[in-house]
Amino acid sequence: MSQPAPQPLATPAIDRKWWHTATVYQVYPRSFCDSDGDGVGDIPGIISRLDYLQSLGITVIWLSPIFTSPMDDNGYDISDYQGIAPEFGTLADFDRLVAEARKRGIGIVLDLVVNHTSDEHPWFREARSSTDNPYRDYYIWRRPSAEGGLPSALESTFGGPAWTLDPQTGEYYLHLFSRRQPDLNWENPQVRAEVYRMMNWWLDRGIAGFRMDVIDLIGKQVDAGITSDGPHLHDYLQEMNRETFGSRDVLTVGEAWSATPTSALLYSGRDRRELSMVFQFEHVTQFWDQTYGKWRPRPFDLIALKAVFGKWQTALAEDGWNSLFWVNHDLPRAVSRYGDTTGFHVESAKMLATVLHLMKGTPFIYQGEEIGMTNVPFTSIDQYKDIETLNMHRLHVEAGLSPDDFIRGANESGRDNARTPMQWSSAPQGGFTTGSPWIEVNPNFATVNAETQVDDDQSIWSHYRKLIDLRKHHQVIVYGRYQSWLDQHPDVFVYSRTLEGDRLVVLANFRPHEVTVTMPDELHVQGRCLIGNYTDMDRIGETVTLRPYEAFALLCDLEKV
Ligand code: NOJ
Repeated sequence: MSQPAPQPLATPAIDRKWWHTATVYQVYPRSFCDSDGDGVGDIPGIISRLDYLQSLGITVIWLSPIFTSPMDDNGYDISDYQGIAPEFGTLADFDRLVAEARKRGIGIVLDLVVNHTSDEHPWFREARSSTDNPYRDYYIWRRPSAEGGLPSALESTFGGPAWTLDPQTGEYYLHLFSRRQPDLNWENPQVRAEVYRMMNWWLDRGIAGFRMDVIDLIGKQVDAGITSDGPHLHDYLQEMNRETFGSRDVLTVGEAWSATPTSALLYSGRDRRELSMVFQFEHVTQFWDQTYGKWRPRPFDLIALKAVFGKWQTALAEDGWNSLFWVNHDLPRAVSRYGDTTGFHVESAKMLATVLHLMKGTPFIYQGEEIGMTNVPFTSIDQYKDIETLNMHRLHVEAGLSPDDFIRGANESGRDNARTPMQWSSAPQGGFTTGSPWIEVNPNFATVNAETQVDDDQSIWSHYRKLIDLRKHHQVIVYGRYQSWLDQHPDVFVYSRTLEGDRLVVLANFRPHEVTVTMPDELHVQGRCLIGNYTDMDRIGETVTLRPYEAFALLCDLEKV
């Protein structure tokens, strides 16, 4: 049996940043914690839970939008970039949140939604009032086609045409999302200057950075049929960097559904002066149907999943930086999608966390993930609130899909799975509100809730806490070279991370049954179990039998193997 010769590895030539060791927690304010009983989460509610987040160990909160908004898309339709939505609180509440979070070593990252505004934004109100209004060119207008219809066949992400006719001026405006979210025209330098001014205003209030909504769309050139990755996208981001956060030590993460490993290096490469990292979605979209997208997901395939993670880990090994996430407010719950919510809820939730958090990159936790919250079992379309789900329901049912089939699909893939209230305790409404919640609480709150988990050192929550802590203390987790093993094995995920004399070996079983694996010679190692979801394992022999959803990580000293 051969053993690898100990090889001192050079410390990577990477510029070390504070956000390399950070774990980010996403708060969806509407569903996190309601302090005043109106059924909608709010900023004072978030403040009241900062101690909870501090004890979890996270050091950054990404706050989904809290700005003034008609809430057509739950705040991703902003009508005043410098105002706070009254249901969430006031600017004074926000400043208090920043200060209280800072006292606990937590930074606040705001959601920058500048691909589009709300149709109630004063710029759009002005723009639509006449074709020669000075704000007209803040948005994207086109005359009707020669036949008098839509300017092009471009579709909105939420279903239906991406153009809406504005009767007052007889022209169409572009909206890649809902008709109440008109797209800004980034080719107009005044638009860009306004956005940068606004960003600096927030940065001056002490925020820790920005998550940038659909940032890959801002360089669109609609007449050429280009929406994502337009020719000037990176010029705009470099300009934005120069004009705003470039001189400040903040975290920036762009949502980029179109990102490839090559373009990710353009966004996050060390000499590019653009963003810290992007959210790339290949591990999500690879399971979408070619025609029906997420509404008809393909069966889960571990070999394919490992290939995608491996590709990204390798592509950004020397330059750029990965974000690591299973879920967010647009995606179904991780344990429902990739784990097992009936027989092995706790084991599979911990396994998923282990696999993700020990890769190279900055991990993001979506609220409730740390307690293993699951998808919803809704039975009627009336229980859904999400604009995308409601639009798709109308379109799919019109096209002949049975309403029951649609509900089944929505319970598996719809965005409201992530948006049911945070389950704090077994109190009514899961302790989220004393009133009537804006969306129903998942009925499993009596068993799945934070209160029962925070003092239980075997809970999913405690497992997350341990993972977050490990990242703070082990450079190999932050910077170690990633290598995957057993790529063609359909049931287990095996990878190692190596830095100087340390090697971390991670093994995970993605199945609800035992799996026995023959291990590669190089991984017959002995070490210290840093984390595991069954008992501690301290050596890997020629074969390993993993229990259902078992995962563990062994830290080995290469001098001693
Ligand atoms: C992406 C956001 O994550 C999603 O929630 C939103 O609906 C769209 N962008 C439009 O802003």
